[in-house]
Amino acid sequence: MSYKITILPGDGIGKEVTQEAVNILKIIEKKHSINFEFTEHLIGGAAIDKTGVPLPDETLTACEESDGVLMGAVGGPKWDELDYSIRPEKGLLKLRKELDLFANLRPAKLYSTLIEASPLKSEIIKDLDILIVRELTGGVYFGEPRGVEKINGNEKGFNTMVYYDHEIERIARLSFELASKRDKRLTSVDKANVLDTSVLWRKIVTKVGKEFPDIVLNHLYVDNCAMQLVREPKQFDVIVTGNLFGDILSDEASMLTGSIGMLPSASIGGKVGVYEPVHGSAPDIEGKDIANPIASITSAAMMLRYSLDLHESAKNIENAVERILEKGYRTGDIFKEGNKLVGTREMGSLISEELEK
Ligand code: IPM
Ligand code: MN
Repeated sequence: MSYKITILPGDGIGKEVTQEAVNILKIIEKKHSINFEFTEHLIGGAAIDKTGVPLPDETLTACEESDGVLMGAVGGPKWDELDYSIRPEKGLLKLRKELDLFANLRPAKLYSTLIEASPLKSEIIKDLDILIVRELTGGVYFGEPRGVEKINGNEKGFNTMVYYDHEIERIARLSFELASKRDKRLTSVDKANVLDTSVLWRKIVTKVGKEFPDIVLNHLYVDNCAMQLVREPKQFDVIVTGNLFGDILSDEASMLTGSIGMLPSASIGGKVGVYEPVHGSAPDIEGKDIANPIASITSAAMMLRYSLDLHESAKNIENAVERILEKGYRTGDIFKEGNKLVGTREMGSLISEELEK
């Protein structure tokens, strides 16, 4: 079997962590007699520097023609002053939109060996396993009109939060389906006490829920959900929410698991999936060989599972990560006294060697 994989390292630590994930995929090739055809393309600030735009057409075409896309991260202070329309983040948003990746899966699962790395008490997070499903191509991220205008000597900045019924319906259905393969509980998060979009969101999710009588559905306001995630996170199985709330809640959930450096993600729903760590480009630690590559490596595992149907290989990668953590190896972000401190490359090599066994 041969698969075309597009690699988009992007900016900051994106390049370093993606390299480790590619190394892992090369081990999978050898072990399982699979062939990955890797091609690297530009996105984000790296693309702006070379081509003037954050998502060159060539990159988009390569992604469309591949079986899976592995991305690093985009953005950095170097490009912060640019006009919003050509900033690095715009490249990522356009990629999601063009590929119709309406569902972003962000699993927050606690590795038992990392229980000490979390800022929360161990009894609160032991065995934590939450899946956040974030709507990714709608909401206030993409709503029109938007902009900053001068009106009567004042400046007005505005965005539009908008969801169509069909957009809510498809993300709700996917979330119910995911919940039916897990603990059969779905929490829909909105702000229906204030926002009209949320009133529709709640109505449609409830309607779709009628097709899934064995799933227990409840609704929470986003502020309450943010609080409950810290108070009693294990009450959650699958959480489905809109684009902005999902962005915020998934960062929060990542810390429950010890470090944002641990959280992978899958963006699916369109023709080809994009897999990327939830963490950003972290320009402050770029090139220092200290970034945690685990989220990128487990994002690659998600790619094998969701885009290539290589379930066994995906599981093997996740198991190798778990065993290396069990042996006490840690990058700085998850390090506690008594652990063995390793850098990005060494963490990657350790996982590769473990996988090769
Ligand atoms: C994420 C990021 C992006 C987002 C940025 C970089 C545009 O924070 O993937 O969570 O807001 O979606
Ligand atoms: Mn984010």
